Amino acid sequence: MIASILFLSSCTESVTTATKLLQQLQEQGLMNEVKRDFDAKQVTRGHEIFIKNCAVCHGQNGEGTADWRKPLANGRYPPPPLDSTAHAWHHSTEELKRFILKGGPPGEGRMPEWQDKLSEQEIDDILVWIKSLWSDEIYEAWYRQIEHR
Ligand code: HEC
Repeated sequence: MIASILFLSSCTESVTTATKLLQQLQEQGLMNEVKRDFDAKQVTRGHEIFIKNCAVCHGQNGEGTADWRKPLANGRYPPPPLDSTAHAWHHSTEELKRFILKGGPPGEGRMPEWQDKLSEQEIDDILVWIKSLWSDEIYEAWYRQIEHR
């Protein structure tokens, strides 16, 4: 519960820092230095596991719900996109993994927990696939400011 609250409340703050960081990197001519070197087989595997388990809510390609910014009648938010357009990239690999393992606040019908359904390896595969969806720019900002902050 506490982990989920921390996870969600850290979003707004990291939006500002990430946007600022993109600007700084561009000004200093430091963009396009971080290269993604993902194992193509792991990316494919991650997508397959995602389609079986997650696509029902997050879409086949992690595009989420069109109106994901609009709260539902019960005050909850629909499943967000996991690509560059939303805020999955505002979290480190460790935070994302913990959130997927434990899910949203228990009993509130939000993001389900996966710790008894998927292995850590399967979640790692999904996370590599999710990162492969991000644009080069977003990946660079994430790598410098979020993952290695
Ligand atoms: C029953 C629908 C449902 C399924 C199935 C589901 N999710 Fe989610 N997911 C959600 C909802 C709803 C949220 C938003 C939670 C919130 O705001 O509290 C979410 C949030 C997330 C986030 C956080 C995104 C962010 O921007 O911070 C990640 C990452 C995520 N899901 C990954 C997954 C993965 C990986 C799977 C499959 C293993 C999965 N989800 C399956 C409904 C679902």
